[in-house]
Amino acid sequence: MLSETDFIANSISSDINQGIFTWSAPSNIALVKYWGKKQDQIPANPSISFTLNNCKTITKLGFSKRHFDKLSENNSTFSFDLLFEGKPKEEFKPKIQKFFERIEKYCPYLKNFHFTIDTQNTFPHSSGIASSASGMAALAMNIMSLEKELNPLMTEEYFYKKASFLARLGSGSACRSIKGNIVVWGEHQEIKESSDLFGVPFSSELHSVFNNYQDTILLVDKGEKQVSSTVGHDLMHNHPYAEQRFFQAPQNLSKLKLVLENGNLDEFIKIVESEALTLHAMMMTSMPYFILMKPNTLEILNKIWKYRNETKIPVCFTLDAGANVHVLYPEQYKNETLQFIKDELVGYCQNGQYICDEIGFGSQLILEN
Ligand code: PMV
Repeated sequence: MLSETDFIANSISSDINQGIFTWSAPSNIALVKYWGKKQDQIPANPSISFTLNNCKTITKLGFSKRHFDKLSENNSTFSFDLLFEGKPKEEFKPKIQKFFERIEKYCPYLKNFHFTIDTQNTFPHSSGIASSASGMAALAMNIMSLEKELNPLMTEEYFYKKASFLARLGSGSACRSIKGNIVVWGEHQEIKESSDLFGVPFSSELHSVFNNYQDTILLVDKGEKQVSSTVGHDLMHNHPYAEQRFFQAPQNLSKLKLVLENGNLDEFIKIVESEALTLHAMMMTSMPYFILMKPNTLEILNKIWKYRNETKIPVCFTLDAGANVHVLYPEQYKNETLQFIKDELVGYCQNGQYICDEIGFGSQLILEN
């Protein structure tokens, strides 16, 4: 079992001057939600997510060795340029600076390089789809590619685990965007090798009904969230229902593990929809309280319930920390469900926008040094 200190890089064996990597990393959608954390991005309960396929961040990391030859220069700061879609983006820099500070203990080589980070998303930036999970995961993959150049003997297993470990320190849910179609993050008795420190691919055999499971994301509100997830997580401290929630989540994960193995979609729907509404119930019952759903979110949920009742097609929803609705359904019902979405749900989406996605497999190397 790897512990936190195993992720401190201390065996740098090779010297490298410059290079470029490019990785893509997908977004993910939690089925059992992570909401509430302890110090150092340790989750208050285990969570599980579907990895997405189409909603991705693609990040190019250029690096060159810094030479500290002038007296005025020193290596006490990080040195990087940040580009979004090829253009400098100063607003994103503080987030990266903070990420570097958090991971420096584990990647002490970072200050030896100047970085150029060029990042883009395959989904619209202001869509309300969290880009922090895919963004931090893509950056973590690139950093691990650099670390592997510095330490060529690193195993593949360590490479991916540390990438997830680093991504977690950027944004908790990002650790579930590294590897695997379904990922568990957080210690759970029944999930082999599960850890609070990084995400692990769900290792049981998946029932075939979940192959290419569909996620159509209805963009209900693309505005800035009025409460960030950082603040939301914090509000779980001293929350009147926190204890019960942290007791419930691992139980839901146990139930969902069985469902993912046996393909019982009635049970799947119950767990997943209840988890989504519980997440929002936690927001509504914190102090201060807040609501991220919009009237159109509720219209959509009611339409989905009605449609499912009438057609018996196992379509259900989940929600992220926002107003958008993720519509989940088996691939075999793709045509009917997309028709239903076009006929009855698109009217509730901002500018009629939605994104068709499905289960994917995690990060991908696009350009090697
Ligand atoms: O990764 P964060 O800190 O942005 O938290 C994300 C929390 C939820 O998206 C609401 C749930 C989850 O498990 O992804």
